[in-house]
Amino acid sequence: MNIKKIFVIGAGAMGAGIAQTGITKGFDVVLNDIDMAFVERAKANMEKTFTKNVEKGKMTEEDKAAALGRLTLTTDYALAADCDLVVEAIFENYDAKQNIFKALEEIVREDCILATNTSSLSVTRIGSVLKNPARFIGLHFFNPVPVMKLLEIVVGLKTSDELVEAAKEIGLALGKTPVVAKDNPGFIVNRCLVPYINEGINILSEGVACPEDIDTGLKLGANHPMGPLELGDLIGLDIILAVMEAFYKDFGDPKYRPSSLLKKMVDSKQLGQKTGKGFYTYENGKKVK
Ligand code: 3HC
Repeated sequence: MNIKKIFVIGAGAMGAGIAQTGITKGFDVVLNDIDMAFVERAKANMEKTFTKNVEKGKMTEEDKAAALGRLTLTTDYALAADCDLVVEAIFENYDAKQNIFKALEEIVREDCILATNTSSLSVTRIGSVLKNPARFIGLHFFNPVPVMKLLEIVVGLKTSDELVEAAKEIGLALGKTPVVAKDNPGFIVNRCLVPYINEGINILSEGVACPEDIDTGLKLGANHPMGPLELGDLIGLDIILAVMEAFYKDFGDPKYRPSSLLKKMVDSKQLGQKTGKGFYTYENGKKVK
């Protein structure tokens, strides 16, 4: 594997988590977003996490300084020119993602791998705008990226076999266990996980139980680290809705109908941890009573 420098587009929870994982594992990472304030905020959060890791003895001050020294912040795509891998982690929209890759294809080297972290869109369709879709693949990370051990590799119809092998090596080098899925709605994990969260929301809206009991039920009854409502708040309810809408449209099966309470939560901008209010209330990312 010859990947040394990664260009990450989008400094939200996923992009920042991918960048943090990359610098921790010794890669040079360029983190890009449309506003310097977004990438600076992501870097400040990484510094806080690294400081805690130093206090816990999981990292030395030298490791922390070296990791942060491998991070470059930018709003400019020009810095992708000498990168070996691009990972896009912006919001879920075909036009926005395709425009990014069309622009980047003109900037990056011919051997640079192009990847999307999409959780609900078709990798084949995003990559269809490229002159060379064989170099395009899905690298689906999980939130919180530095902690979650899985990398789901999503193979588009035109993704080359060599790229799938390279992606497995990238996953291992980032400390993740790779699994490979065909480009089908939800791939492996979200196909199971997101309808489960939607069902938790249906249970709430039918008045079967309160949020705390629904979450405690799944934590203690099924040994999940978080219940469905807490997990929906962590992932972002806008993302849950986008995935359910894609399933409902693509499979045409009523079992994937998004919960009407979920739609109302999104309409009222109660998106979970990132807006401070979802099924629970959050201050500085922590749940408050
Ligand atoms: N960044 C870095 N480290 C983090 C972190 C973050 N954002 N969040 C937690 N951690 C670390 C903590 O520092 C702690 O480290 P330590 O063991 O060295 O002290 C460790 O993770 C455990 O954290 P906490 O003690 O604070 O809390 P928990 O033990 O409750 O774990 C959790 C938190 C890891 C989030 C756990 O609740 C969990 O695994 N939840 C399920 C998450 C999940 O299912 N994610 C997948 C979502 S689906 C997805 O992302 C796909 C998308 O397409 C929708």
